[in-house]
Amino acid sequence: MKVRITGSVFLLLVLIPSTASIAQIPGMAPPKHFPWSDKNLSPDQRADLVIQQLTLDEKIQFLHGLGWQAMMMQPESGPGTRAISAAGFIPGIPRLGIPDLQMTDSVEGVSGAGEKGRYATALPSAEAMAAAWDPALSYEIGTMLGHEMRAMGFNMSLGSGINMIREPRDGRTFEYKGEDPLLAGTLAGQELKAEKALHIITDVKHYAVNDQDAGRIVVNSIIGKRAMRESDLMAFQIALKDSGAGAVMCSYNRINGTYACENSYTLSDVLKKDFGFKGFVVSDWGGTQSTVNAAMAGLDVEMPGNDSFGEPLKKAVEGGDVPMSRLNDMVHRVLRTEFDAGIVDDPPHPESPNVMQGFKVAQKTEENGAVLLRNENSTLPLNAASIRSIAIIGGHANVGVMSGGGSSQVSPAGGNPVPPPPELMNNPFTSFMLVEAYQRSAPLKAIMEKAPHATVRYDPGTDTASAAALARESQVAIVFAVQHESEGMDLANLSLPGNQDALIEAVTAANPHTIVVLETGGAALMPWVDQVPAILEAWYPGIRGGPAIANLLFGDVNPSGKLPITFPRSEADLPHPTHLAPPKPDANHPVPKLVGAPGMIGMAMGIGPFFDVHYDEGLKVGYKWYDAEKKPVLFPFGFGLSYTTFAYSGLTVNPGDSTTVSFTVKNTGQRAGAETAQVYASLPEAAGEPPKRLVGWSKVELAPGESKQITVPVSRDRLTVFDEASDSWKLVPGQYEIRVGGSSQNLPLTKAVSY
Ligand code: BGC
Repeated sequence: MKVRITGSVFLLLVLIPSTASIAQIPGMAPPKHFPWSDKNLSPDQRADLVIQQLTLDEKIQFLHGLGWQAMMMQPESGPGTRAISAAGFIPGIPRLGIPDLQMTDSVEGVSGAGEKGRYATALPSAEAMAAAWDPALSYEIGTMLGHEMRAMGFNMSLGSGINMIREPRDGRTFEYKGEDPLLAGTLAGQELKAEKALHIITDVKHYAVNDQDAGRIVVNSIIGKRAMRESDLMAFQIALKDSGAGAVMCSYNRINGTYACENSYTLSDVLKKDFGFKGFVVSDWGGTQSTVNAAMAGLDVEMPGNDSFGEPLKKAVEGGDVPMSRLNDMVHRVLRTEFDAGIVDDPPHPESPNVMQGFKVAQKTEENGAVLLRNENSTLPLNAASIRSIAIIGGHANVGVMSGGGSSQVSPAGGNPVPPPPELMNNPFTSFMLVEAYQRSAPLKAIMEKAPHATVRYDPGTDTASAAALARESQVAIVFAVQHESEGMDLANLSLPGNQDALIEAVTAANPHTIVVLETGGAALMPWVDQVPAILEAWYPGIRGGPAIANLLFGDVNPSGKLPITFPRSEADLPHPTHLAPPKPDANHPVPKLVGAPGMIGMAMGIGPFFDVHYDEGLKVGYKWYDAEKKPVLFPFGFGLSYTTFAYSGLTVNPGDSTTVSFTVKNTGQRAGAETAQVYASLPEAAGEPPKRLVGWSKVELAPGESKQITVPVSRDRLTVFDEASDSWKLVPGQYEIRVGGSSQNLPLTKAVSY
């Protein structure tokens, strides 16, 4: 059996592998000359010329993967032998010079690489990327991913992920870019734009309202149109506009009663008509639940199998249930995307990945995305010259850093240093999805290198008393606390698992000079927050996590990350205090018969009876909920400390078609640092909106004492609301407050303007 996530089978990887194994990828031969080879023609014209040559079977071949079995087993013959990853493969048509589609997940690195034992850079999680609030860095990440995909022979990526985190216990929070549509859409857009520039077909997922993984294929997300358009779908709209992404992956769940992959409102009315999306819609793996309904609603490609879009689609076309014009449109969308992205003219040429460049981008991402949440009495940065003893406790910090699991798992280079119990590894489902894998970048080693004069000792933290004893004997204690997330599960709750809260309390009681470094996928509760003087949220830190964390703790890098999600004080404060999962089956609630989701994949989808989740909070998603409900939070959206301080002054706002917001930020401290200045708008009361929304930001680097004037353009689209009655966007006349500052709850500058 070929298991997709080889991080979980722990192949021993070499750092710079030989490229001989895939030096020639059949189906990717350089293009010969055909009428559609003419680059002066538009992608649409080129696609139409190809379509004229296709038989019905060939058309159908473009619209599905090879089948579950083909993906799971190592095929011995046929086109499947050309697949370089089991994640996704669609054979091309060699006689017409149309390449295979070789797909890989790429949310936190090129995860498909590991299946052939190849090395790929393990990046920090998407939440860490978002916490950097840096579009230029997102572009750099996309460039790195694009190069690595090409180096391995992939020509289509299955990432970025976008989701408004309506359910913070979602096991895939680490795969997403935070709870604000502008932040998530902008950053995803830059990443995908960079990949496309390197001739990769890009994809954005999971469309839409796919906020929990527990029961993901039987859950029905109930949500109002306006809330969806202004938040969940808006994030996709922004990402698509910025990136020219070629594919959108529809999600497993139903939206208002209809599967996302057969939902004509989200797929056709919104995505294809309103957003003007010209690429193709691909189903999440096993997310296609019908043939005619799905095809007519707007789904173009079924993955990874052919249960609905193989023979059944052919029959539906022959029988007239799916008109030939729609079939041609589906094929046209795939082909025009292939030409538009450049994968026909410029196929990838396998080579060794640039490991050092990957290291650089991974480290930079972590250094810019880690968020300093608390720093009482300047506990941080640590002084390397004067420190004599350090206790490092917990989180397997002696061997590595936590990573997120599931399809986005990048195989740990050198194997997982924390091998899970054999019973998990011998089970195809748990080895595939749920095992905790660490990247080999040990904070312990990096901290030892930073403080050569200090005695640095490690305690695993399993025994609270022994950890406290070590902390008592040391000048400083650093507790590494982890919370594992994976596709295929949700978190039971937002508390740190196991004994970690008790551990932190015991260590802090033993040594008040305690620092907590969190490696979490999203928000965590912190009952000990007032006792611990310094807290650094490091997310899943990636292959250079150790050195990056050490640089931040010792002040070689000044923290500049800001939270892309709210950290609540308790689960009782969430819009949905109770996490919902599929109910137990009974006579009235049977387990539905689903298409194409057998065996272990079915388990991963959490199959049970259908159930509804009502996203009644609507527009009040993320920080907007806490603002509107006046609920205090642990740490607000946009929040993050620095080792220096910043002052804001001189706000001017020039309203217009594009409003210009200008102000000055000054570094008032002693160190160079970067500040993410955020601009929010409060709409007139008549708009019926939550108290404020993010409308722009700028990240600026400042030397000590330096001031810079910053101008943030705010387009009209950022200020409009969706009017369901007229199905259109409106600027509500009245007074708007423009508010500027360093977090959603620290906005010292305010100006009222009228529209
Ligand atoms: C995930 C997708 C992923 C696909 C291919 C599915 O299980 O939900 O996000 O792209 O697998 O690996």
